[in-house]
Amino acid sequence: MSGRSTIAVIGGTGAEGGGIALRLAKGGHRVLIGSRDAAKAKTAAAELAALAGTAIEGDGNLAVASAAEIVILTVPYAAQRPTVEEIRDILAGKILVDATAPLVPPRVNRVQLPEGGSAVAAIQALLGESVKVVSAFQNVSAEKLRHLDHPVDCDVLVCADDAPARQTVIDLIATMGLRGIDGGPIGNSAAAEALTSLLIWINRKYKVPGAGIRITGIEG
Ligand SMILES: NC(=O)c1ccc[n+]([C@@H]2O[C@H](COP(=O)([O-])OP(=O)(O)OC[C@H]3O[C@@H](n4cnc5c(N)ncnc54)[C@H](OP(=O)(O)O)[C@@H]3O)[C@@H](O)[C@H]2O)c1
Repeated sequence: MSGRSTIAVIGGTGAEGGGIALRLAKGGHRVLIGSRDAAKAKTAAAELAALAGTAIEGDGNLAVASAAEIVILTVPYAAQRPTVEEIRDILAGKILVDATAPLVPPRVNRVQLPEGGSAVAAIQALLGESVKVVSAFQNVSAEKLRHLDHPVDCDVLVCADDAPARQTVIDLIATMGLRGIDGGPIGNSAAAEALTSLLIWINRKYKVPGAGIRITGIEG
């Protein structure tokens, strides 16, 4: 990716979105935090900006999604579809990066994929071809993203039906100091979504905050 993009993080007031926002801001992008509550977004943006040492803005979900070229969704699975439905009218022509892992409390360390396999593929089916839905970040812990003084020692699986959109997000991830791996079409997101529960299991078993994955055998 060449240059600076304007990126909205819907759910950026939370753990994962806040971490992604920090890394994107450090990577030189204009970052807009979205929330159901504009005041909450502005407060979170100010806190994140202080951590990043650079400007981060905040506003309501619809306002930030409207202003952005790329929209990143980081809300709990139960809120995924309702949140997308609220902003769908302004998503046409944009890339929607969906970090959703379909966790079903309380057994979040057990794989419980939805009917059809992938929660993110279901959003691509909902939105149709005018929105390029890209699955990413399911296997990167918020804990790791938020520690800006440490490199994030894991890969990011990137799945989408639209190959140029996939590459755009891989390039965006590189600006965050992470390696994105082309994981193929959106249906393959099911594997990344399932891995999230496995990683939560591993975190608990080994008493660590952010187990991740690395793909071996490829250069770069
Ligand atoms: N945490 C991780 O380490 C991690 C790692 C990989 C992937 N993920 C995925 O990233 C997503 C977000 O995870 P998270 O841990 O960041 O979640 P979170 O902190 O619990 O929530 C993120 C944000 O989602 C919004 N939200 C919460 N409940 C909502 C509801 N009922 N309706 C609409 N919006 C709601 C809230 O924003 P407002 O109240 O400001 O609207 C909240 O700040 C999940 O799908 C998760 O599986 C998380």
